[in-house]
Amino acid sequence: MSQALEKVDELPGVHARISTTKLGKAKAVISKIALVALAISVSTYFVKRPFGIPIGKAFEDATTSADLCPQVDELVPEKNGVIWESLQDTYSTEEFKARAVDWLGGAVRIPCVFRLQFRVVCHLNLELTIVNTYGLLYVWKGSDSTLKPLLLTAHQDVVPVLNTTIDEWQHPPFSGYFDGEKIWGRGSCDDKSGLIGIMSAIEVMLEGGFKPTRTVVIASGFDEEGASSLATTMLERFGENGFTMLVDEGSGYGESYGRVIAVPGIGEKGSLNVRVKVTSPGGHSSLPPPHTSIGMLAELIVQYEKNPFEVHLTRGSPTYKSAQCMAQHAPGISPSLKKHMLLAEHCDGALRAAEQELFMNRAFMSLVGTTQAIDIVEGGVKVNALPEQAWAIVNHRISTESSVSATKVRDIELLESLASNFNLSYTAFGAHISDVDAPSYGTLTLSDAFQGGLEPAPVTPSGTDAAPFQLLSGTIKATYNSHRNIPGSDTIIVSPGIMSGNTDTRFYWKLTDHIFRYGHQEGAGGGSLPSGVHTVNEAISANNFVEIIRFFTTLILNVDESSLP
Ligand SMILES: *[C@@H]1O[C@H](CO)[C@@H](O)[C@H](O)[C@H]1NC(C)=O
Ligand SMILES: *[C@@H]1O[C@H](CO)[C@@H](O)[C@H](O)[C@H]1NC(C)=O
Repeated sequence: MSQALEKVDELPGVHARISTTKLGKAKAVISKIALVALAISVSTYFVKRPFGIPIGKAFEDATTSADLCPQVDELVPEKNGVIWESLQDTYSTEEFKARAVDWLGGAVRIPCVFRLQFRVVCHLNLELTIVNTYGLLYVWKGSDSTLKPLLLTAHQDVVPVLNTTIDEWQHPPFSGYFDGEKIWGRGSCDDKSGLIGIMSAIEVMLEGGFKPTRTVVIASGFDEEGASSLATTMLERFGENGFTMLVDEGSGYGESYGRVIAVPGIGEKGSLNVRVKVTSPGGHSSLPPPHTSIGMLAELIVQYEKNPFEVHLTRGSPTYKSAQCMAQHAPGISPSLKKHMLLAEHCDGALRAAEQELFMNRAFMSLVGTTQAIDIVEGGVKVNALPEQAWAIVNHRISTESSVSATKVRDIELLESLASNFNLSYTAFGAHISDVDAPSYGTLTLSDAFQGGLEPAPVTPSGTDAAPFQLLSGTIKATYNSHRNIPGSDTIIVSPGIMSGNTDTRFYWKLTDHIFRYGHQEGAGGGSLPSGVHTVNEAISANNFVEIIRFFTTLILNVDESSLP
């Protein structure tokens, strides 16, 4: 995530990580509701069926036959099988781990302003274009120029380290210290492990003599402007839809309800920062009006918090698909949630019941709906002066099912009656809401605080006919298995999901429809990000970093030999 937009303390997993005690309580609370809802849902389901199949039978059919989250087998490179096998052996050695630790540690030690002139080998074999001072665009030319290139992206910049938190770091934030298990420091997870993971994979593949058939492009931005100029350059050079697929930073895999699940992000929420500004006449505090600008603003803020956005789980949305995968594959979820999710596709009652249970996890609910957080407030200059103006900024994260304009409309309507009660002339996003000519006591203005409303990302196809998603799934499974030297296609489940923060991919929408946010990091459950991301003590295990290198190697080799366009 780029630092400008994000400061997420606890990055929630896609899947509800409800603690068992909470879950126990929650179960007690909803058992009644669930039963009622189940009754409704089953009868609805029953009514919809053309023939009078007994309720129990209908229920069983739905819960046993449907495969809501079909899985692919692991995908091991075939044409590129020889080099893949040999690199898997390399990656299993202690010597290689030491090299990997050196590479990532070295990158962490280059603080913040980090222009990565990658190692000599890569330079000789990859064409490098510097875009807008810090943006790096590497092109590793394939032999067949009719194939659309694979695009891998990662950002170089890191979240700033606050001076006040320096003492809390076990090892200095830019030490790149290796304690025998983990590599410590800012960027070790977010996102130097991504960039160095990609470059390390390429370096080792070059050493192994691999020559790609399909071109691989690596784009690494530095801040938002960097990503935006890289996007322009790539669009000029490769054209609209010029890439076969794109993998950017994102979550990884982890255990969730008794199952190891990897969660590539197929969607990303939008965002909008709304400035709510009130002005009213100044004057001496000894002769105050009943409401000052600050008092009115306070009431407007309360109005926001009293009215959270209505949130619903929508069929087909990334969060719905995640819940389906949990229902299908995670043994630890409650039986009622499992039943409801399995019926939800065709039954509104079951969908609402599942939603009710899922939303007891607030983090999950936040991922589904549009959120609001009053994050900044300012007003007043002196105790003896009435404040002529006061303002606050409301940060919205917009649901994948909503839009910037729907969010604006809802905010405008929310404050309309208070504006009229306070006799404020009301303007929102450049339009007059109240009668311009009516005399008023003061003004209320809503505006886009940073001129930067972001629409939710287009949702990447993830169905059984979506070849890039299936390729990524098989790659994740092959990587996971090879790293552990285990067989099987259900050792790890791959579930579509949503990225909780924003990535640079918002600049890359035109380059391909198949955008994934996935870094194969070992997280704390169901695709949440590992600890330390965006806060103190960021660290990654060397073992997981080697696995990330394996992941990028397998991905490049699989895409290289695939029949994707
Ligand atoms: C943080 O600490 C550094 C180094 O001690 C210093 O140069 C910088 O001015 C400090 N920044 C703030 C905002 O205090
Ligand atoms: C609003 O305030 C203006 C200015 O004080 C005043 O002229 C007008 O009558 C007020 N309107 C209402 C509806 O109170």
